[in-house]
Amino acid sequence: MVGLSRRELLIGSAATGSAFAVGGLAAHAANAADHELVMSAYEHSFLPGTVTQNMMSFLPDGPPPVLRMKRGEKTAIDVKNHLDEASVVHWHGLRIANAMDGVPYLTQHPIEAGQSYRYEFTPPDAGTFWYHPHCNTLEQMARGLTGVLIVEEDEDPGFDLDLPLNIRDFRLGGDGQFIELFKARNAARGGTYGTVSTVNWEVDPVYEVPAGGLVRLRLAITDVTRVGTFGVEGAEAQVIALDSNPLPHSMPADTILLSPGQRADIAVRVPDDEGQEVTLLLRRPNGDKNLARFRATGPSARRSLTELKPLPVNPVPMPDLANAEVIDFVFGWSPEGDAPQASSCGSLGYTFWSINREAWPGDVPGPLDPLARMKLGKSYILRLRNESPNDHPIHLHGVSFQLLRSNKRKLPPLVTDTALLLEEETLEVALVADNPGDWAFHCHVIEHQKTGLAGFLRIES
Ligand code: C2O
Ligand code: CU
Ligand code: CU
Repeated sequence: MVGLSRRELLIGSAATGSAFAVGGLAAHAANAADHELVMSAYEHSFLPGTVTQNMMSFLPDGPPPVLRMKRGEKTAIDVKNHLDEASVVHWHGLRIANAMDGVPYLTQHPIEAGQSYRYEFTPPDAGTFWYHPHCNTLEQMARGLTGVLIVEEDEDPGFDLDLPLNIRDFRLGGDGQFIELFKARNAARGGTYGTVSTVNWEVDPVYEVPAGGLVRLRLAITDVTRVGTFGVEGAEAQVIALDSNPLPHSMPADTILLSPGQRADIAVRVPDDEGQEVTLLLRRPNGDKNLARFRATGPSARRSLTELKPLPVNPVPMPDLANAEVIDFVFGWSPEGDAPQASSCGSLGYTFWSINREAWPGDVPGPLDPLARMKLGKSYILRLRNESPNDHPIHLHGVSFQLLRSNKRKLPPLVTDTALLLEEETLEVALVADNPGDWAFHCHVIEHQKTGLAGFLRIES
């Protein structure tokens, strides 16, 4: 078989993500970090015969690496900012100490151009996560700064291959160059869509996978805008985890609604015959679009999905619903259109959105008031009401929450960090405020986040 085993894939991802290898090799040196990210200018070819300029990556010589770490083990990541602007890096979905959360002014000063910052944390949960800047967020993410972060389970779950898929669009013209990263009239509505769909920075890539084997596809939706329905066709496939948390019952993987920030882990049983293809699709009313293909290779491994043990449940505390206090949030347009304040973390120059009728003033030193205060250790129900005709993936840093109910649809009791709030929907979610600090709370359509739909919650003793 050619480059197919799990072991080889890990090495493969380390080769494109040299931070992994650097961390591994350098671990003996005193004080070396486990991983290194070098935020760098970059260029890359997406469309035949073109080279996209003015990109940004987390490596000087490759797309953003897949960071792999172990649950319960401390890890250190050195971030070097070789861009010519400030940045910070946020670890989306990780329930870690507030000081390591990577939000400008709220948790740390921006990392200025030319400076470095060491992040150190111990991931409490296993699963598929991702990382991205939280400073000049629209531009830096749109130009490429989104990467997958994997926290491995304590025990190997038994797949033949583990395949992280960084799913996102880029906004390119026919010449392969960036076109305007957003349009104001879209930012005031559903957001501005990219033009070129990619998986791991490739258009419709083909991966070789072991025939008859079990493959774990880790979908991470790192796009700045697109809410989409994804599906796997051509094989037996089940969703086994959403947003890093295992599902109590796996569900079919033919239609999975995912919004920016969300993840899905899919167990695929590859067909037996060499050359057979499995497809990852984006479902669209005007016809499905291929995002990536997986081609069976080698003699059949003859495995079965029933061989997989359920993934271990993450230690997220369960809220005490009988004694939970309800906090209301309303998401809507901004009552006033003042431009946000200028900041070294950028501004789109418009205010369109608000939470509780207040628009986020921009990433500024503050001090700013939290949208709500919660007592450490207490349970809360957040009632999220969307009074706008657009969808908003609502994301909370630092704490995971459980979906309770909606006025529009039946919801499974999933645990997550990012919940898609549909147009005109009211969603109730519950959490235990177990992690002290100021936690960013915002829409993950980045144009919405950067034009007012953002704020923070304070957890204090
Ligand atoms: Cu993935 Cu505050 O973000
Ligand atoms: Cu986050
Ligand atoms: Cu939004």
